[in-house]
Amino acid sequence: RQNTIEIPVAVHFPEANEADRACLEVLAQNQIDILNADYSATNTDIATWNNSVSSLFPGTTAGVADISFCIAVSNHPPGLDPELIEGNPAITIGYNFGGGSPRDGNWAGYLNFVVRNIGALGFSPLGGSIALGDAVTMDNNAFGSNAVPGCPGSGVVPSAPYNLGRTTTHELGHFFNLEHTFNGDGNGTCGIGGDGIADTPEVANSTYGCPSPNAVASCLAGQVALTMNYMDYVNDACMYMFSAGQMTVAEAYITSNLVPALA
Ligand code: ARG
Ligand code: ZN
Ligand code: CA
Repeated sequence: RQNTIEIPVAVHFPEANEADRACLEVLAQNQIDILNADYSATNTDIATWNNSVSSLFPGTTAGVADISFCIAVSNHPPGLDPELIEGNPAITIGYNFGGGSPRDGNWAGYLNFVVRNIGALGFSPLGGSIALGDAVTMDNNAFGSNAVPGCPGSGVVPSAPYNLGRTTTHELGHFFNLEHTFNGDGNGTCGIGGDGIADTPEVANSTYGCPSPNAVASCLAGQVALTMNYMDYVNDACMYMFSAGQMTVAEAYITSNLVPALA
């Protein structure tokens, strides 16, 4: 493939106030910047992996995806969706994005983010659809990073320890067809299969908090768990890499299933 795949994102804040538009635009762009860094392994904390942690994982290299994200410029036909006409960039405030998964046909062709109070960090379909207008949902306290001011007037304020925008990195991994590294396990039992990706060692449980990189055993003899992977559950500050195998899976999904539908 010749060119980096550019994925336009529409960001929806159904519970926010129009008065906070400027603030929310800054926060949304900050989240996009984080995704671009994390998916290209140009995040500053990849240095932790490169300088020391990678030596614990002889079979694993950091993954780089040849994709980039931008905030979409809306170009829907006038009359279809009033929120879109003023929405340039495509950031809606107070627009009630479709229910269910959620999914909204007015926003087909975009990767959609919905940011609202869900009382959990986030969720996403596994293998999402841009053609059908699927969305990744993030909690109002787990979107963007505290490197920029949050938007307290709308309750959209990143909150520690999930304040570095990595919930969106993680949820998008699901949208791109990535399972948790502990998939199928999570109950203390090995041998159920993990995520089906060879370079992420199978692990019997999810990991929370911020363990030291060699603290958690994997299911493989003599091999520790890849807790610093974006598809585990550690704090934002303690996850900083995808594996090459994961980015191969994600890029294949994006190329075959998402690119044809891009707006
Ligand atoms: N628990 C959520 C999920 O399974 C997200 C976890 C994200 N972790 C984080 N450090 N931001 O999708
Ligand atoms: Zn998850
Ligand atoms: Ca694996």
